Amino acid sequence: TRGRVFVVGAINVDLVVAAERLPGPGETVVGTRVERYGGGKGANAAVAAARAGAEVHLVGAVGADANGTEALDELTAEGIWVDGVTVLEDEATGVALIVVDPGAENQIAVGAGANAALSAEHVTRALASHLRPSDSVLVSTEIPDAAVEAAVIAAASAGARCVLNPAPPIPGVADLLGYGPILTPNAGECLELAKMLDDDHTHAREAAAAIMARTGAPVVVTLGGDGALVLTPDGNVDHVRPRPAVARDTTGAGDTFNGVLITRLAAGDELDDAVRAANVAAALSVAHVGARAGMPRATDIEVGSRA
Ligand code: RIB
Ligand code: NA
Repeated sequence: TRGRVFVVGAINVDLVVAAERLPGPGETVVGTRVERYGGGKGANAAVAAARAGAEVHLVGAVGADANGTEALDELTAEGIWVDGVTVLEDEATGVALIVVDPGAENQIAVGAGANAALSAEHVTRALASHLRPSDSVLVSTEIPDAAVEAAVIAAASAGARCVLNPAPPIPGVADLLGYGPILTPNAGECLELAKMLDDDHTHAREAAAAIMARTGAPVVVTLGGDGALVLTPDGNVDHVRPRPAVARDTTGAGDTFNGVLITRLAAGDELDDAVRAANVAAALSVAHVGARAGMPRATDIEVGSRA
């Protein structure tokens, strides 16, 4: 049986400008237009999970404004349960300002708004009495440390699987490793996390091993165009090869990866198989501008896996 997926994380509206290049400090670059897309690492991963076939419950916060209404409408239209999203009267919905260049490189500045006001109490209320051991919880870190902590602890107390995407790697993550979450850093985040543990390394693989020594759980290092590394506590290291991708916009590729990973784990896949599916989905997602535009459905992932 398929377990439910709970996603705890940020909900944003993304304003995206495609420009010839990314601006430097003090510089103005001019693109032809600005596009609005749904965004935020939590909401994006929730969409990826829903499209991949999971029953998804999102936990987060928006403001009582038009952006918040739009965000919740979009998520509901994806089939996501948003009862766990609190609408905060005095906060603005989070907004991300994104510039994308022709090489699909991006630059993102986030005005966190309501996401920064998501409380531990809210997260606990949305999870604690609801979680079952068969559920899976995905947590990302564009929300306060205390909210991340509440989510990881709620998952651990319920005996539910927990995947923690340390993007960005907030200091609070170091204190949560003892709860045994599966971590999914990219290479840079992996080095940063190891540094927070006073266990400095220059290679992502060694840094990941240092992290795994604290969690006792697998670490999945996403390598962008180079696939992913999967380290498991039995000492095994597997390099999941990259999938061919035409990259127009890599915004949200990590969220796609995490959303599909948790969906497949919740459905009972082995970790390696789940990572392979997540890797296929992430490669498909970058072909379109907008964090959610290229996110595949379960059937597209099947087809892509055979290609
Ligand atoms: O991971 C991509 C997301 O990061 C964007 O959608 C933006 O909202 C930022 O939160
Ligand atoms: Na995309």
